[in-house]
Amino acid sequence: MSSNFSREFNFQAWSAERLAQVEQFLKHGIDAHSPASLGQAMRYAVLDGGKRLRPLLVMAAAEAVGVDLEAASVTDQPSSLAALRAACAVELIHAYSLVHDDMPCMDNDVLRRGKPTVHVQFGEAQALLAGDALQALAFEFLTPQDGSTEFSVQAAQVALLSRAAGYQGMAGGQAIDLASVGIPLSEIQLRQMHRLKTGALLLCSVQLGAVSAGKPNAQIFNGLSDFAQALGLAFQVVDDILDVTADSATLGKTAGKDAAADKPTYVSLLGLVKAQQLAEELYAESLRALEASGLHTAATEALGALAGQVVNRKN
Ligand code: IPE
Ligand code: IPE
Ligand code: MG
Ligand code: MG
Ligand code: MG
Repeated sequence: MSSNFSREFNFQAWSAERLAQVEQFLKHGIDAHSPASLGQAMRYAVLDGGKRLRPLLVMAAAEAVGVDLEAASVTDQPSSLAALRAACAVELIHAYSLVHDDMPCMDNDVLRRGKPTVHVQFGEAQALLAGDALQALAFEFLTPQDGSTEFSVQAAQVALLSRAAGYQGMAGGQAIDLASVGIPLSEIQLRQMHRLKTGALLLCSVQLGAVSAGKPNAQIFNGLSDFAQALGLAFQVVDDILDVTADSATLGKTAGKDAAADKPTYVSLLGLVKAQQLAEELYAESLRALEASGLHTAATEALGALAGQVVNRKN
């Protein structure tokens, strides 16, 4: 295990390489020949789109704790493969959450990742099932039956992802979101909603990477978790901001939906300027947490760069 980053760390090159690994694994991991075209809807939901922030966080966190993800070695090292599998698993959960989030019974959106949403393209029942099947497939990814990942690592990753996706994580946050339409929330309530609906999966991404070679020491695990928590909140604050400031073509999804649907957001609570300030504060907080992890600065460069990308992104 040798991949802690060097001084000439090049984020563009690093992310291009990691994205290629993720795309390849996803393309091969989602069977197009599932019954009654279900596989096609699943592939449509996952492939060719999305920033892949969660997989990149998994991989950056894995590398921060010393897992080697250099292309040639990924398939022969258990911890590398565990990290890559987890990176793709969390993207499946995320993609499923988007399919359901866009359905008429939730946000009723017709555009996602620059394409018609899954229910527009394949019908509502197929969209529902594609989401269900993607969720299950995520746990298949984490539990290979060929002995390539130690059971203790599998169990740790399944425990993290199931909790982050369920009632105490993403699904719970989505329930709060829908129950809060037209209701002004306090900052504490809004923070809790964002922490669950978006933050839980981002926190989980970093933790999945961190445990892919076995659980690291508490200082490292807690530092990385604090990093991810600040980043997770920053991410949804920026999502709320972009809904107001960006156009649909840039976003690849319909802009202006939050106000139109009377959703409580950081922009509706604080206004645009204060929401932007908060995103910057959370970014700084995330970098302080990385420092507090005790990991060498060079080892956390990709994580730090990803945090910068979250706050400065345009889509
Ligand atoms: C959008 O997530 C949904 C939220 C959790 C706010 P992303 O902005 O990461 O969407 P993709 O994956 O890039 O499409
Ligand atoms: C969606 O939040 C969060 C999840 C899918 C869990 P939003 O409803 O704000 O996401 P967008 O803006 O449609 O991407
Ligand atoms: Mg929503
Ligand atoms: Mg939505
Ligand atoms: Mg949004």
